[in-house]
Amino acid sequence: MCGIVGYVGQKQALEVVVAGLRRLEYRGYDSAGVAVIADGTLAVRKRAGKLVNLETLLGSDPMPDSTTGIGHTRWATHGGPTDRNAHPHVSEDGRVAVIHNGIIENFALLRAELEAIGVTLSSDTDSEVAAHLLSAELVRTDGDLPEAMRRVCRRLEGAFTLLAIDRATPDLVVGARRNSPLVVGVGDGENFLASDVAAFIEHTREALELGQDQVVAITPDAVVVTDFDGQPVDATVFHVDWDASAAEKGGYDLFMLKEIAEQPKAVADSLRGRITAGHRLQLDEMRIDESVLREVSKVVVIACGTAAHAGMVAKYAIEHWTRIPVEVELASEFRYRDPIVGPDSLVIAISQSGETMDTLMALRHAKSQGARTLAICNTVGSTIPRESDAVLYTYAGPEVAVASTKAFLTQIVAAYLIGLYLGQVRGTMFEDEIRRILDELADMPRRVDLVLDTTEPVRALARELVAAPSVLFLGRHVGYPVALEGALKLKELAYMHAEGFAAGELKHGPIALIEDGVPVVVVVPSPRGRAVLHDKIMSNVQEVRARGAVVIAIAEEGDEAVAAFADHIIRIPAVPTLMQPLVATVPLQVFACEMATARGLDVDQPRNLAKSVTVE
Ligand code: G6P
Repeated sequence: MCGIVGYVGQKQALEVVVAGLRRLEYRGYDSAGVAVIADGTLAVRKRAGKLVNLETLLGSDPMPDSTTGIGHTRWATHGGPTDRNAHPHVSEDGRVAVIHNGIIENFALLRAELEAIGVTLSSDTDSEVAAHLLSAELVRTDGDLPEAMRRVCRRLEGAFTLLAIDRATPDLVVGARRNSPLVVGVGDGENFLASDVAAFIEHTREALELGQDQVVAITPDAVVVTDFDGQPVDATVFHVDWDASAAEKGGYDLFMLKEIAEQPKAVADSLRGRITAGHRLQLDEMRIDESVLREVSKVVVIACGTAAHAGMVAKYAIEHWTRIPVEVELASEFRYRDPIVGPDSLVIAISQSGETMDTLMALRHAKSQGARTLAICNTVGSTIPRESDAVLYTYAGPEVAVASTKAFLTQIVAAYLIGLYLGQVRGTMFEDEIRRILDELADMPRRVDLVLDTTEPVRALARELVAAPSVLFLGRHVGYPVALEGALKLKELAYMHAEGFAAGELKHGPIALIEDGVPVVVVVPSPRGRAVLHDKIMSNVQEVRARGAVVIAIAEEGDEAVAAFADHIIRIPAVPTLMQPLVATVPLQVFACEMATARGLDVDQPRNLAKSVTVE
């Protein structure tokens, strides 16, 4: 939520910063802005709307040459998405420019204080106060920007990443973070600050993780990190193991299409190195002692959005394999209901970005209660894995489209690995059972590939249903979270009314929504698995069909029984029940993507959304 880039070096800062913003635009696209220092003055350009609006402005009103600059792409919280609320914000004396991600919770107090001493604020944002406070502190610190930043940060409450430049110190960018992401890119004669490594990956793959409440000062040749009190801090170095091309469209029209297509590889990469030659599970990253895992009496999954659906899928598997009760809780609800967690709870935080504020706050609450914490995360160096006892990375590669696809499949895989590992460590599963399931998982990339080879019918169907006012999704067992995910994708991308239901719950209310012609997508369980699930859903299908629904069955190859009840059948490979989400979700992703395209919508950047939601 909000993308931030800072650069200092030898290159044209504007070019580096705008290219970085392009890679960070998934974080927010309500407005964009840049500031550079040239000839002892600040030059600032900003525009409401997507980055392209700023680029148009830069075309007609070019900026001076400069090798120091900052840039911002905004997801609005305080103050509407207008030009005047766009970042950077400049202090009244024109000395400092500031960009911000997060929410400064005590901004009203600080605004009032500034107004009382005669400062005129020119935006409705919480962020602008930081610019005025910094300029005041620069006077008191004799122009020491890092120290001024530390002093300001000590006064701020809430979550923030701040970057600032001072026209009086042209080769310096200062950043600070509390609860919002900020990473340092370490180059040769140049350095970078950004919300995400994607912003500087084409220049360097060497990065530093910043911890909480730290201030960083970058010049072309140095990176200096301190805490908010000025004590030096050693930042952790990490190497980014993907290159710039991984964050580009690579011949696809849309990031989402590329990411859907990458799912077989993402699943394979997430399994790699974790299964030994002897088909045993080896999770080197699991820094939680086996003896502790043996004592776990319950598992709690905390996550948001698509990641929460992955957690719901995992619950079925983990409970079945380990007999440990698993709760899945929306992270935004978790800490406010006084949850029962303690030292014998294993809390699994699932997050693609590793920065989702709701998940982070839930994780911290779990830690404060003494729980063991484990992250499933796709972003190396992000906050949620840093603050967890252990992390299992999903190697999906960068996910840029706002709607999550490949991350979902890999989150399920990672959670399954944790479930199997618990089964292995606790002895609740036979070795050959674990081996069989690992083999099934290892075969899933091939199965997902098969689904991807046959997406045309589902695309055609989306085009046919383009005018439908509403689409319902039904599932049972692991098909239920898949139905929720199918509905979420359609809402996010096509702005259609879409809801997912547990098929058995239909008769308790939602069936009233069924009328002539309403499309109902049914995720049909395998008849070879627990046949009762298949039989029950067949009854549910008949109930909606009898009331005029147009039934679209997502059913496995060879399930001929569905033909009698479905208006359309989308075939998926026959796989074991617990593996079905990995194949059944894919047509639903394609359906939503095609529907949004047919409706002329922006698939990669849907309205009102942001990929990484760093506010509560
Ligand atoms: C946002 C995104 C969703 C994502 C959710 C959780 O709402 O739009 O696609 O599922 O955040 O994100 P996380 O990074 O924690 O997985």
